[in-house]
Amino acid sequence: MRLAAAALVLAVGLAGAAAAPAAFDWRLPAGVGPPLVPADNPMSAAKVELGRRLFYDADLSVDGTLACASCHEQKHAFSAGVALHPGVRDTPARRNAPGLANVAYLSPLTWADPAQKALEGQLATPILGEHPVEMGMHGQEAEIARRLSADPCYRSLFAAAFPERRGEVSLETAGRALAAFERTLLSWNSPYDRARRGEAAALSDEARAGEVVFRRAGCATCHSGPNLTDGAFHVIAAPRAGDLGLQEKTARARDTGAFRTPSLRNVALTGPYLHDGSAPGVRMAIFAHDSAVDRLSQDDAAAISAFLTSLTDRDFVENPRFALPREACGKARTN
Ligand code: HEC
Ligand code: HEC
Repeated sequence: MRLAAAALVLAVGLAGAAAAPAAFDWRLPAGVGPPLVPADNPMSAAKVELGRRLFYDADLSVDGTLACASCHEQKHAFSAGVALHPGVRDTPARRNAPGLANVAYLSPLTWADPAQKALEGQLATPILGEHPVEMGMHGQEAEIARRLSADPCYRSLFAAAFPERRGEVSLETAGRALAAFERTLLSWNSPYDRARRGEAAALSDEARAGEVVFRRAGCATCHSGPNLTDGAFHVIAAPRAGDLGLQEKTARARDTGAFRTPSLRNVALTGPYLHDGSAPGVRMAIFAHDSAVDRLSQDDAAAISAFLTSLTDRDFVENPRFALPREACGKARTN
């Protein structure tokens, strides 16, 4: 944590050689360090506000039907709430959309791609990607800039967010603003967090007992650290046809069916589960781990589920700062 804070100071220091940006207020509880921020995309309130509008804007999709928020809904802790959310024109999806709580701390990003290191770069996948098509903007980068700059509301937001680039409206600046907004999607106020900060009463006895089972059963070897993920790839079950996971990127046989350990923050709200959304409930997801099947009783699974419920942060899913802005620029999301 201290390292992250030091790196942030360094990042801001480098980027702000000419005019130091005002320190960003992360609104973090005591003892939680801020996430790393790339030196060339320092945080600012104006950038975050722009990113939030863009996150809810369906004009980022080719036919104006899909916003980021269509597949990343706040009430589902910014997951989709369905197993596989189709892309534009009902293009079938391959994978389940993960929640975005504390995504600023995660690297690599996505289920099975070690090259996805930063939020700025990840955006190309939904906006421009073709396997699968999500927002369908491949080859239409200039169209995004055209649509956004046609709107006076956006022109003033870009001007406030990117004074050093004279308010340039482009896919690149839009992506930087989106990444800045995503970095603010912080979830540190679940009963689990409050108990760790010394509020013993925040955690129910069931959840406390469940955490003991969670650790005894070895869950925390992979679901470790503050976000309950080691950020590493593991094979937990025989791969299913059609998705070879990490092997698709590395071509190594031992990576067949390996996926990144998902964070368990707000997991009670992020179902359906697993990379393909094949587990409708948390218990099914637990029993989908081959190693867990032999060792866990139904009682153990119930105890663990009670613990996992303590990772639900109501403040996160109800925080108006993350919601659809009351006054949107561009085209509001349509579903
Ligand atoms: C059609 C649905 C859809 C849309 C629209 C969409 N996403 Fe996603 N998102 C997904 C899916 C599916 C994944 C997982 C992809 C994978 O791992 O292969 C994902 C993964 C992510 C991740 C990685 C999260 C993690 O835990 O590593 C981020 C960040 C993200 N999306 C942000 C965005 C942003 C920002 C937008 C808008 C520009 C967006 N998404 C639009 C479906 C969508
Ligand atoms: C060897 C590492 C490892 C261990 C040990 C492990 N998990 Fe997982 N867990 C994963 C991976 C990898 C996935 C994603 C697999 C996939 O999508 O195919 C996952 C998925 C999950 C999910 C679904 C989350 C989501 O958002 O889709 C839950 C819930 C879960 N694990 C809970 C547990 C519990 C409880 C235990 C202990 C009984 C446990 N895990 C042990 C690696 C592990």
